[in-house]
Amino acid sequence: MSAPHLRLGVNIDHAATVRNARGGAHPDPVRAALVAIAAGADGITAHLREDRRHIRDEDMARLKREISKPLNFEMAATDEMVAIALHTRPHASCLVPEKRSERTTEGGLDVVGGHDHLKLVAAELARAGVRVSLFIEPSLEALEAARSIGAPVVELHTGSWCDALFHGEAEKADHEFGRIRVAAARAAELGIECHAGHGLDFDTARKIAGLPQIVELNIGHFLIGEAIFVGMPEAIARMRAAMDEGRRQASR
Ligand code: PXP
Repeated sequence: MSAPHLRLGVNIDHAATVRNARGGAHPDPVRAALVAIAAGADGITAHLREDRRHIRDEDMARLKREISKPLNFEMAATDEMVAIALHTRPHASCLVPEKRSERTTEGGLDVVGGHDHLKLVAAELARAGVRVSLFIEPSLEALEAARSIGAPVVELHTGSWCDALFHGEAEKADHEFGRIRVAAARAAELGIECHAGHGLDFDTARKIAGLPQIVELNIGHFLIGEAIFVGMPEAIARMRAAMDEGRRQASR
């Protein structure tokens, strides 16, 4: 059986990080989004953080106005962000945990402890026609909670797997990948659409593309970094090729 198409969501936060380093308007993250789409991105992700360290309110408004592919608004489940999302009406909102002190989104949501609040937020966004995704750890417990919250989509946090590979911890990496494989299969059984992301590069994207239940990867930091060397269109073309190669192997 052939696996469904694997979408590539490009996260353009770090184009804004570079812009903000000098306080001007260059490089424009919306231009990065437009170039990414022209190069084959299936959607654009941007994370409006409470501290506005990269993406700013005006970026999100412009992304909504100017891009032709789905906008995935990554956000904490706070009153402030819900109000902005309801005003912006993105295609999707990915709810993520957020800590001011972290460098990046370090783990999945506490979907068990935050169950009731997340359920309210998910319902409010869904009523406005926004597709809600929950960024979760690849665990069966988190998936059960996501089902109970009523989320149509989950995004599995791939950071622990990618970190283990980076540190050369082969056994831990195998264990973490196993958790992702089991969680993706369970998501499909529960009728929840399964995405994945965090820390992915060409090799990890190729490998995870072999899991047929995963239908979208969201990739940011590596692509923006790679664009420094080969340009954004080439970085995205190479990522697309890696994903397609992994998918072909999955379909054999
Ligand atoms: N998906 C989610 C929910 C994230 O929070 C992030 C990081 O902002 C990503 C994907 C992309 O991670 P990376 O920048 O490491 O590719």
